[in-house]
Formats: sequence, C-alpha cells, structure tokens
Amino acid sequence: MLNTQIVSVDKNRPEGYKIKKAAEIIKTGGLVAFPTETVYGLGGNALDEHVAKKIYAAKGRPQDNPLIVHIHSLSQLDELVKEIPTRAAVLMDKFWPGPLTIIFHKKDIIPYSTTGGLDTVAIRMPAHSVALELIKESGVPIAAPSANISGRPSPACAEDVAEDLFGKIEMILDGGPTSVGVESTVLDLSEKVPIILRPGGVTKEDLEDVLGCVNLDPGLAPGEKPRSPGQKYRHYAPKAQMTVIEGCMENQVKTIQELTKQLESGGLKVGIMATAQTRHLYTRGYVISVGDRTAPLTISSNLFTILRKFDRLGVDRIFAEGISKDGIGLAVMNRLYKAAGYKILKV
Ligand code: TXA
Ligand code: MG
Repeated sequence: MLNTQIVSVDKNRPEGYKIKKAAEIIKTGGLVAFPTETVYGLGGNALDEHVAKKIYAAKGRPQDNPLIVHIHSLSQLDELVKEIPTRAAVLMDKFWPGPLTIIFHKKDIIPYSTTGGLDTVAIRMPAHSVALELIKESGVPIAAPSANISGRPSPACAEDVAEDLFGKIEMILDGGPTSVGVESTVLDLSEKVPIILRPGGVTKEDLEDVLGCVNLDPGLAPGEKPRSPGQKYRHYAPKAQMTVIEGCMENQVKTIQELTKQLESGGLKVGIMATAQTRHLYTRGYVISVGDRTAPLTISSNLFTILRKFDRLGVDRIFAEGISKDGIGLAVMNRLYKAAGYKILKV
C-alpha cells in the first residue's frame, strides 16, 4: 500500500512548488491523479512502458484498452505522431486545449503498452492549467485514463479519486470539481467521413460546423461491436441496478413514480435521478436532481458524482430520466446507457 499524498492546488494559478513535486513523481515513474476540464486523470509517463502497466494495475483495467496521451503544446506532437492530417490541424486549432481526443499514427517512441498494442495513439491537450503545468514541468507527455477503478463512474472531484485509488498511487492533485464532467470526445479521422468513437465534451454539432458530415460509430448502439477498444467494456456502473426511462417528461415521471411505489412496497430502496424540472413532482424514493434540462452542462458536470452518491446512499435500484441527445446530451445519454448496462425503458 502506498502513502498517497493529497495536495490541494489552486486551479487558476497552480502553485509552482506543488506542481514540481508532482512532476518529480511522474519523472521517476510514479503515478499522479490530476484534474482536467472533463474528469480527473490517472497520469504517468506515456513514454515508459512499465508505467502504462502500473496504470492498468492501479485501475484494474484490461491491458488492451489504450490510454489517452496528454500534451501541453503543439510542439510536443511531432515527436509522437507520424503525420498530422490537415483536418486534424484545423480541429486542433479550433478545439485545443479542450475536450477533444484525436487518433493519430504513432511513432516508435510511444510504447505499445500505452496504446494497448495498437499502431495508433489517442492524443489530447486538456483545458486545465493544473494539467497543462504538470505536463510541462514533467517534460514528457502524460498517459492518463480516467482516475477510477475500471468499470466505476469516472471521478469529477478529488474525493471520488481517493475513494477508488487511495493507497494505490503516489499523489492526488486536488483542483476542485471538474467543469465538463464527462470525458473528451474521441475522434477517428482515418475514414473519409470522420467517426466519433466516444461522444464527449466537444459536441457532434461543434465538429460538424468545422468538418461538415461526422458519423457516430454505429458500434456504440446496444449489442454492436464498437471500433474503440475501451467502449466494449461495462462502464460507469453504480452498484445498484439502474434503468433509464425515456419518453416525454410527464410519462417519465408517471412511470418512475409507479415503479418506485411497487419496489418500495417490496422493501427496496429506490434512487431517482431527476432533473430541476421534475424533482418536485416525486413523492417517493431518494430523489436527486442531476441538473437543469435547459442547461445540459449542469447535467454532465453532476452526472458521475451523483451515480456515486447513490452508491453511498445504498439504494437497491436507480431510475434515471433520459434527456435530449442534442449537444452534450449525446455524451450524457451514452454514459447513462452504459451505467444502466443498456437497460432502457421507453414510455
Ligand atoms: O476526458 C478524457 O478523455 C479523460 C481525461 C483524463 O483526459 N480520459 C479518459 O481516458 O477518459 P480513458 O482511458 O478512460 O478513455 C480512453 C478512451 C477509451 O475508450 C479508449 O478505448 C479510447 O479512448 N482510445 C484510446 N486510444 C485509442 C486508439 N488508439 N484508438 C481508438 N480508441 C482509443
Ligand atoms: Mg474511463
């Protein structure tokens, strides 16, 4: 068991000496969890094959699930990738730093342990000064998956990281809650029409404004085979069984009320993930509003923390209201479906 240091850091102006200490750990082959604008990452030297193995071990993650490599400046990219397609350059210019991950052909310097055996590498530049300063000070690109135990909801605050990884890594940099709350969009540019492998912080509409047509990987649908290795695993799952209820708001509320009544009379504890618009309509269950339907970023930023909250409440079943798939709603619904193991009820 490691003695995990938890160091709080100013997210706007990270204290230099704290970043130096964290960077020292990265340089010497250790692991540091750090905030990004999406979720907390579990970081280590992306160029060291042993470090990738340590990351997989700490997370309990299958080794064929490739890691995202984080950089702080465009000048780092040439060393890592064989070519920079024109479309990638345009996207980087518009969305970096930010929640967009782009797949490139990797150079030999990146070990196969980091890419899960693939000849391609996923790269992003996070929009968070703690992350950027840490990468810069470390002097190496940082491989970082989300800082959770594999299969659990991603961490949107340092407490959630500690819950999963305390004693397993050297340090947690606590920069407060993250803003986007769901992970970056993963984009594959190898086909004529770009493919979203994982919907995330940069929306499909944002990408279409720049690229024209963009497809969503059809493999993301229930029962299909996704193109991105990481997407095939069960994910984001709370301990209780969860069902997503989709339909008009009135029907959602009515159905959840009825189901909750039935389950409660059978002695079960029910959690309801409601929205600002519906929360007051429920008279039973443990009701938590995930956010405002008219401001979906409030929903994405709360989503994972609330799934963990239901775990702590010890509920037996969770009902979650589905929301519109516009904008960041697409990423929210993708995470909800996975958290529910694709248990979806249309009403
Ligand atoms: O927002 C984020 O992206 C966060 C923060 C920490 O940056 N990171 C994150 O990493 O979500 P992770 O490891 O949990 O998810 C990486 C995703 C997986 O679905 C993985 O399969 C996909 O990116 N991926 C990585 N490399 C890939 C590659 N070469 N080809 C296809 N998919 C890849
Ligand atoms: Mg993850």
